[in-house]
Amino acid sequence: MLTYSPFNLKNLHLQNRIVMPPMCMFSSDETGLVKPFHILHYSTRSLGGVGLIIVEATAVAANGRISGNDLGIWNDSQVDGLKQIVEAVHLYGAQIGIQLAHAGRKCTSADPQIVAPSAIAFNLESRIPHALEISEIADIIEAFKSAAIRADQAGFDTVEIHAAHGYLLHEFLSPLTNQRTDAYGGTTENRTRLLREVLIAVKSVWPAEKALLLRISASDFAEGGLNLDESLKIVDLVKDHADLIHVSTGGLVETPINAYPGYQVSYADMIRKHSGLPTIAVGLITRLEQVEEILGNGRSDLVALGRELLRNPYWVINQDGRIRKADLPYPKPYERGRA
Ligand SMILES: Cc1cc2nc3c(=O)[nH]c(=O)nc-3n(C[C@H](O)[C@H](O)[C@H](O)COP(=O)(O)O)c2cc1C
Repeated sequence: MLTYSPFNLKNLHLQNRIVMPPMCMFSSDETGLVKPFHILHYSTRSLGGVGLIIVEATAVAANGRISGNDLGIWNDSQVDGLKQIVEAVHLYGAQIGIQLAHAGRKCTSADPQIVAPSAIAFNLESRIPHALEISEIADIIEAFKSAAIRADQAGFDTVEIHAAHGYLLHEFLSPLTNQRTDAYGGTTENRTRLLREVLIAVKSVWPAEKALLLRISASDFAEGGLNLDESLKIVDLVKDHADLIHVSTGGLVETPINAYPGYQVSYADMIRKHSGLPTIAVGLITRLEQVEEILGNGRSDLVALGRELLRNPYWVINQDGRIRKADLPYPKPYERGRA
């Protein structure tokens, strides 16, 4: 069973191929601190057998929060709570990463100013963002770098840089949201500059033995936006600075998406074959057969189950009946409940 085969990448030695992708729980408060809920939420998925857990989008700056209830990693007081999540997750066998994020123009917290590559609002309800000056771009890079140092202090096995779903780094990548005329706008190379600089800065402080992940949206599904071809070029420009690509789509602009089971897998497949980097496939994957098909056909190396793991934290260990019981790890205290 490929789903239950180990995966190794630098310091990551995963017990199986199932990933819990980052999912905002909006369960902190204005402090951005970890609450008892977060420790319980993530450690439950570890007990349930997930190979790699990636903690939700965690803000590298106060005005980089999606909401006023996001987790934060913009100051040192936030490290201790994150460390408690790491320690609880490690007790039950999963490895754990954290998604470092800046919401850009999609920030809805009460901060006085929101920022983006260009002064274009997300929608009619959103504020108009301040277009970052070059000197302020340096602060963004510094914020990601400091956050990576804190993530290492908290003991995370990996970090994922969030350059998907219409948040700040994605806003720089896409011509729909980046209309700058300086070195950070225009050509694909210029629009990729900030992401590249963030990755290089993070890598300079992130331990060499620890894996560094990157999440992108491979298509904006909108006229004039990113498509697969340009995403392949973007990956070419950054692939020396990341160890794995977590392939999602959408989120930049409000547009209908034709979502069906596995609808994003072909993007993970193309990026894997083109770049030679391992990928995570994600998006409406809920069944063991889907995971086996994706892995068996070499379309990705890992598979993330988002909403399915919200519904069923024990998905990984409760596939009994389809494979030999002996193949599955099971928490000892739960043995008498084993199907
Ligand atoms: C409640 C919720 C919160 C999410 N928050 C994040 C996030 O913090 N960062 C991110 O990159 N994606 C986020 N996503 C997207 C998921 O990581 C995943 O890509 C998406 O749910 C599709 O996978 P699924 O069909 O298996 O749920 C979120 C999705 C959900 C449902």
